[in-house]
Amino acid sequence: MIKNDLFLKALKGETLDRPPVWMMRQAGRYLPEFMEIKEKYDFFTRCQTPELASEITMQPIRRYGMDAAILFSDILVIPQAMNIHVEMKPGLGPWLPEPIRTQKDLERVIVPDIHETLGYVMEAIKMTKEKLNEEIPLIGFAGSPWTILCYCVQGQGSKTFDKAKEFCFTQPTTAHELLQKITDTTVLYLKEKVKAGVNAVQLFDSWGGMLSPTDYQEFSWQYMQQIIDALEGLIPVIAFGKGCWFALDTMAKSGVSALGIDWTCSAKNARYLTGGKITLQGNFDPVRLLSPPSVIKTMVKEMIDDFGKDRYIVNLGHGIVPNVPVENAAAFIEAVKSYKAEG
Ligand code: CP3
Repeated sequence: MIKNDLFLKALKGETLDRPPVWMMRQAGRYLPEFMEIKEKYDFFTRCQTPELASEITMQPIRRYGMDAAILFSDILVIPQAMNIHVEMKPGLGPWLPEPIRTQKDLERVIVPDIHETLGYVMEAIKMTKEKLNEEIPLIGFAGSPWTILCYCVQGQGSKTFDKAKEFCFTQPTTAHELLQKITDTTVLYLKEKVKAGVNAVQLFDSWGGMLSPTDYQEFSWQYMQQIIDALEGLIPVIAFGKGCWFALDTMAKSGVSALGIDWTCSAKNARYLTGGKITLQGNFDPVRLLSPPSVIKTMVKEMIDDFGKDRYIVNLGHGIVPNVPVENAAAFIEAVKSYKAEG
């Protein structure tokens, strides 16, 4: 039994005194203790060493006491395991020197044995669960097949992911084969994560908003839905699609426990589009954490009032940015913990 189960209760839609809180990318560069480890070990060494990954996962929890931890790792460990070379270049971000752009390129992409290629993630989960000592739940995650394809084809981050879109629109058969391989790998991977002990999973569709509503259904959502169906009854799933407000109605009917909302969609609109019943998570503008702590606290209170304290998980609308002062992140968390509804 997990002692602080606010997060799991919110996923079930139970009535609570206050909503739970965590932050996307909460283990990150705004933390001085994270930067200390980052100076010593490169990115994938941190991901692949269970002692380091579990330690980094615990850092924000020790400092702030969030209501859920999220395993330190990356969505790009999936293409890596599928035989696609992935590097994290300082100053540039993800770098895939041999992108997948033709049917021939696709031939070398495999659906791997998860234990062989990603066993280190399961070890990190087990170690983190021990460190958490049943205090709070642990979230596991994966990227959406579309978001993973974006990196596999583009070869690096992008403002438009134009090459990824071109690939889908000019070679749809090859694109669907790649998306299916990523989906199959992700399902196997998340099932192993469940066995290793995670208490919920989040699917990050960070670049879903690059697609039109019609293309979103074809190249992203149908694969998200396959993953959600495969996990049904096994674990609560949160789906987060950045810029995907147009698909919220479909997402709300998919069987997920909660939906992530970005900051461009108001609480009112999000509740309206999702039919008012499903748990929502979000949606503080991450850059708003640069406002003074007193402003952050007022805005967080307003945000909770707008979403309503029930069926709600407080979070940012995307990952925390590196230049957030530690005391501003503290103000965000404290504002939730001291929340009292009016009247
Ligand atoms: O939320 C957490 O604290 C868990 C850790 C986590 C990381 N990446 C660690 C990380 C999670 C959940 C991710 C997911 C991820 N990775 C996504 C989806 C979520 C999102 O933010 O949209 C995406 C698109 C990636 C791919 C990725 N990894 C990018 C684009 C970058 C570089 C971005 C940048 O800011 O430079 C990474 C690197 C990365 N992943 C870092 C961290 C803490 C920063 C680099 C480092 O630590 O060396």
